[in-house]
Order: sequence, then structure tokens, then C-alpha cells
Amino acid sequence: MEETLNDKNSDKDSRPLRIGIAGLGTVGSALVGMLEENATQIERRHGRKIQVVAVCARSRSRDRGIDISSFQWYDDPVALAGNGDVDLFVELMGGEDGPALAAVKAALAAGRPVVSANKALLASHGVELAQLAEDCGAQIGFEAAVAGGIPVIKTLREGLGAASVTRVYGILNGTCNYILTRMGQEDISFADCLKDAQELGYAEADPTFDIEGFDTAHKLAILTSLCFQCQIAADEVFVEGITAISQEDIKVAAELGYVIKLLGISQRSEQGIEQRVHPTLVRANSAIARVDNVLNAIILETDHVSELMLSGPGAGGSATAASVLADILDIARGQSIPPLGMPTGELADYRRAPMRAHKGGYYIRLDVIDVPGALAAITSRLGENGISLESVIQRPDLNHDVHSQDSDSGNGENSRTLVLITQDIIEASLRKALDQVADDGHTRGAPQVIRIESF
Ligand code: HSE
Repeated sequence: MEETLNDKNSDKDSRPLRIGIAGLGTVGSALVGMLEENATQIERRHGRKIQVVAVCARSRSRDRGIDISSFQWYDDPVALAGNGDVDLFVELMGGEDGPALAAVKAALAAGRPVVSANKALLASHGVELAQLAEDCGAQIGFEAAVAGGIPVIKTLREGLGAASVTRVYGILNGTCNYILTRMGQEDISFADCLKDAQELGYAEADPTFDIEGFDTAHKLAILTSLCFQCQIAADEVFVEGITAISQEDIKVAAELGYVIKLLGISQRSEQGIEQRVHPTLVRANSAIARVDNVLNAIILETDHVSELMLSGPGAGGSATAASVLADILDIARGQSIPPLGMPTGELADYRRAPMRAHKGGYYIRLDVIDVPGALAAITSRLGENGISLESVIQRPDLNHDVHSQDSDSGNGENSRTLVLITQDIIEASLRKALDQVADDGHTRGAPQVIRIESF
């Protein structure tokens, strides 16, 4: 007899899905609250109850605004991951190795599905964990690991299953976007913006991960694998953070019609795959320039679907918990898709395209000693190296240097700020030219170099 869709649906597991959660920080606590508040709706929409049965965290007594008294308590996440009462293990502890890795491996090895928001873990061990999940017949969901509340993993794994991605770029760190946005809108220091981002629960436990670009690099490496069907290569990402960006860079960029954003960009080139994270000047009227504050955005350039932009909250408890819950619900419904979109054995090796071969425009800010001929000497060095300029601004009054608050170098020499915008050039030529400019002795300190993208 033929099986109907209704017969199939009636076979679906309708027992509660019992979950164990390791990590009750901003995201873990939001998840517990969300499950409680939406219990009826979840059961009605998805046909299954999601029941928290066990939890593990650093402190049992900390006030989190949620009641955990009815859950089994564990001090050891690995023991929780091995608990036979738990159908699905949720890892929200963070950390690239250590207990998070051990617990996730223990759960998968026992054939238990895992949902994790841990980008550092996935960036470093994603392929190994996906392989383990395949071998053990388990699932691993990690929607929340990239861009908080934006369903980009699902989009790449399922929605774009028939398309081929040619480039992916985006704003992948809420903390950096929040800091750069506020620095551009208010006269507020970098340190104060970072403090606010920490208080709002956006920043990592160690905020240097955010501001030095590593968090973006972890997320980009995961996206690169899904976009280009290759191994995850987080160590191969070129990374520059935002700590050297001054108020003055933001102001001069604005005068020139640009906004500075920390972008993660991954694209194919003749040499391989270029994965890079760095502050970037983007046109003020581009879509990405208007993604402000804690919002993230990902632009996927593809063959068949052309350009797709996803934007939304990239950090914060409830947005991230919503993505964790979406993964839990997929698993509760019995969905089974290879974690990295294809069997891990089919992933191509990663081949890195060197940054020196990168072609693009550049913003260069130099502190020039004010002597006759200095500007001519600098521009002719650039010309000798094949560098064409788009615009040149010399500002006698620009007080850009965070370390030197006046335009006198201290030995009687006045300095001028020179900002150059180049046409598209090869990075290696620029580096060579700037080394020669430094040797010529007309400038002070290191040049500020920011890449430009014309999206
Ligand atoms: N610290 C991260 C951010 C949290 O600021 O985007 C989300 O991964």
C-alpha cells in the first residue's frame, strides 16, 4: 500500500525532546527563558515539546533571572554530554578547546546531536566534528555561531544548495560595528564604546577577540567552507582589527564619501581563496555602509541568485538564542543535512591566495614633515611603483595622531597630514613604495593604510 504524507507525519517522534545545556551566560539564560515563554507555541508549531532536563555552568547560585531549580545540575559538561536522559546537547560555554571540545565530542561519540554557538570551536575543529557527527549518525547545528540571529548557515546549506557562491563579505562582529558606528556619530572614545558593548552583552569574554578581528575571522572561516565547499582554514585568514582606527580616519573618510567598517571578505582569485578581515572604506551610499550599531550583514554573490543580502542582529542574548532554538527545532523534527552542506570527505583542500597579490584601492594617511618638495617626493615614489592616485588631501590642521597631540614633531619641524586615495593597485607595490617613502625620511611614524572596497 502506498504511504501518504499524513502517514509519514504520524510516524514523527512526538515525545518531548530532552535537552541538556552547558553554559548559562547571556545566551544560555536567554534560551532557557525563551523555551519557557514559548513552550505552548513551540509544541503547537513543531509538534514536539522541548524540555530542559539538565544544565551545567560555572556557578550554580548566580542570579540569572531564570529558575534552574528543576533541572539536574552538573559541574562537569562532559558528564552532562554523556547523560542518557539527554536527547540533545547544547554547548554555550565558548572556548576553542578544553571542556567545550571534550563535551561536544563526548555527545557526538554517543550519537547524541549537538547544537553549539561556539564559533572558535567550529572554526578550529568544525571539519573534525562534522566528520564525527557523520560517523556516529548524529547532527551538529551551529547557526548561532555566525552572525547571531541571522540564518546564514541555513541559507547557505539549504536555500542556496543549487547556487555557486563567488564572493561572500560582511559585517560579522556586532561589537566592532557598534564601536565604529558610535565613533562616527558621537564624540566618544573607543574605550567608552567598548565598555558599553560589554555591558550590553555583545562582546566576547575576552574583548580582544572582537576588536582585533579574530571573532570575525572565525565566522568568516566557517562561511568560506560553506560557500566554497572547502576545509575550514581559520589560521589562513589575514586579520587586522580596528584598534588603530582613529576618530580622524573616520572623519576624513566621511569627507571623502566613505564609511569605515570592519569587514570579513572571502573570494576566489587565480591564486586560490582570499580570506581577509580588516577595516575597510566603503562608499557611504552602499548597502553595507548603512548597517549600523550591533547589526551584522552578509552579502552573498552567486551565479544564479545574483546578490543576496542578509542583515540583522549579530550579537546579544535573545537573537543568538533564537538561532540556537531554530537548530534545536530542526533536530527535533528529524532534519538531517550534512553539517557543512556536503559530506566532509568531499570538501576540497583550502588554497590561500597571498595578501600581497590583493588588488584594490587604498586610503593612506601619512604624517609628513613640512619641508619644500616632500609631497612631490612622496607622490613620485608612488608613481615609480605604478601607483595611480584618485585623490590627495593635505591638511595642515589635522590632529590625527593619538600619540602626538600637536603638529610640531618636537624638534622644530612642523608636520602635515597627507591623505591619499589610490586607484586599484597591487598590495605588494604599495608596500614597496611605502617602505621607500619611509626611507626617504619625509614622514614620521608608520603610515595608516586602510583598504577600500567599491561594492
Ligand atoms: N562578540 C560577538 C560580536 C558576539 O560582537 O558580534 C556574537 O558572536
